[in-house]
Amino acid sequence: MTIKAAVFASGAGSNFEAIMEANDLKCKISLLVCDKPGALVIDKAARYGIPTLVFNPKEYGSKSEYEEMIHRHLQHYGISWIFLAGYMRLIGDTLLNEYESKILNIHPSLLPFFPGKDAIGQAYDAGARETGVSIHYVDAGMDTGPVIAQESVMIEENDTKEKLKERIQKVEHQLYPTVINQVLSNKVR
Ligand code: GAR
Repeated sequence: MTIKAAVFASGAGSNFEAIMEANDLKCKISLLVCDKPGALVIDKAARYGIPTLVFNPKEYGSKSEYEEMIHRHLQHYGISWIFLAGYMRLIGDTLLNEYESKILNIHPSLLPFFPGKDAIGQAYDAGARETGVSIHYVDAGMDTGPVIAQESVMIEENDTKEKLKERIQKVEHQLYPTVINQVLSNKVR
């Protein structure tokens, strides 16, 4: 039976696109969930003909209220896995309980270093020599769940944040589909 997955994203959607373009992805991306009306990723999903749930968290009384609404949509589409791809919001108890060990996140640093927002800028401004990409299971913390895979990216002497971001995202676009397939084929514990 086909495994159905949802991508959650808030921004440009380059990782969403990389997942969509991956060869032999072992699941069907059946829904995009986006918490930022107007985000570029919404247009990308439309181009791929992927149904999209766009919502504004401010219109809900609490996280559990909007996560219950998301959960109803996930059930409707028969979603069994969630891949966060630049979804800039903590996942709450509602979805964590329903999707235990079935939510992955990609983060642009070698966790546990530089969690949270603007991880690339944080590493660059700290004068780090090395940063990278992490893919991890999601828990209630900010980029704190068990790490599945990491790949490092060196920060060069004459780097700019933009150049560094380009190299990091190139790694992300390769790594995320690969790790998704490994996890879905039970090659990760
Ligand atoms: C990616 O670099 C992803 O690693 C990062 O947001 C970017 C989204 O880019 N995620 C986080 O920082 C999560 N804490 P995209 O919208 O082009 O895929």
